[in-house]
Amino acid sequence: MIKREHWGSRLGFILAAAGSAVGLGNIWKFPYMAGENGGGAFLLIYLALVFTIGLSVMLAEMVIGRMAEKNAIGAFAKLKGGAWPLVGLCGVAAAFIILSFYSVVAGWTISYMVKSITGALAIEDPAALGSIFGGFIADPVSPLIYHAIFMALTVFVVLSGVGSGIERASKILMPALFALLLVLIVRSVTLPGAGEGIAFLLSPDFSKVTWATVSEALSQAFFSLSLGMGAMITYGSYLSKKENIASSAGWVTLLDTSVAVMAGLLILPAVFAFGFDPSAGPGLTFITLPAVFAHMPMGSIFAFMFFLLLGIAALTSAVSILEVVVAYFVDDRGISRKGASITVGVIIFLLGIPSSLSMGLMGEFKIFGLGFFDLMDYVSSKLLLPIGGLFISLFVGWVVWGKAKEDIAAHNGVVPFWINGWGIIVKFIAPLAIAFILLKGLGVL
Ligand code: PHE
Ligand code: NA
Repeated sequence: MIKREHWGSRLGFILAAAGSAVGLGNIWKFPYMAGENGGGAFLLIYLALVFTIGLSVMLAEMVIGRMAEKNAIGAFAKLKGGAWPLVGLCGVAAAFIILSFYSVVAGWTISYMVKSITGALAIEDPAALGSIFGGFIADPVSPLIYHAIFMALTVFVVLSGVGSGIERASKILMPALFALLLVLIVRSVTLPGAGEGIAFLLSPDFSKVTWATVSEALSQAFFSLSLGMGAMITYGSYLSKKENIASSAGWVTLLDTSVAVMAGLLILPAVFAFGFDPSAGPGLTFITLPAVFAHMPMGSIFAFMFFLLLGIAALTSAVSILEVVVAYFVDDRGISRKGASITVGVIIFLLGIPSSLSMGLMGEFKIFGLGFFDLMDYVSSKLLLPIGGLFISLFVGWVVWGKAKEDIAAHNGVVPFWINGWGIIVKFIAPLAIAFILLKGLGVL
């Protein structure tokens, strides 16, 4: 058997895993979710969930991957078998669904990159920016072309393989994104009227919190940290035993969360400064930020850089989603990396078409009262990811606990002092809390 490919270094792994985590979930989704769910209270609940359940599931996934050195389905089959590989199978299904609509939004960022160069966005009037965005996403053709371009790029990186494709790209781009965000935050928080937005994000109003809010925060935590579908199992499977896996999980969680908070501090002050509605939903980033750029010297250059980096952040995430599926076909079905990447990429592109069209032509077409895009988002982030996380926790806590402890200690032979705390979370707290929040959010309890 050929030896499994490994990440080039610990930093390479952290940046690739952070590249998976940091994406549209942080910059596009988090601010509008916080905006729709009351701001500060949402942020606090989100942080609480991330650093308890999120961090624990992150470590659980990485450990499963490293112990098995297998893809999401194969890892469960190798470590235990029985019905467990179904958890990985749901993950693969979630990967198809998530990438299909993720790529549509990522396509929007490419289009906005182009629009910033041509000057089409250099407009100070927020209402005009709103109609540009609305007109663009409702167009039956143009968003699909960008969706195709984005999927093609994703396929290209994945078929280039782990080290030379995924790792190399993440190493350069993550730091650049961080730096640009800092610059933009300074502009946003110094806009006249920005203070209200800062207060909205940082002072919690718990009167608006319901179980639906908590369940939104939980879904967002899973989505943002790339958890519940085996992305971190897959990336963990390329991790060598020499690396400190727990500290890597901690870094990835911290980086992802910092970028989400930074994006909130970038978007929400601007939303208030320009008199937008914070609960405007998915268009928030694409309408507000161009208005911020229009108020900056050399705004078009900043706009271009921003949408470029957002597109790249989306690319490193999309790559990890596609890799979940491709790793399965390569490991367990004997299909070539190239063949698997292209075939799966085409299927996901096709699945994304109705999501894109639901913003215009197919706007009236509803399933369970949701448009196609919203339905894909709902099924994956509200159901599949948290349920996946629940079973991943149970698996590590109850099925492979002894081996998992050894794996955590593999790099230096020392079992860390917090191991039993983690044990209690994955055995009891995470599964119970996820089940409870899910049922409450669905209105079943
Ligand atoms: N975490 C990514 C983001 O925030 C999206 C993602 C979800 C990636 C699930 C992998 C798995 O944009
Ligand atoms: Na994220």
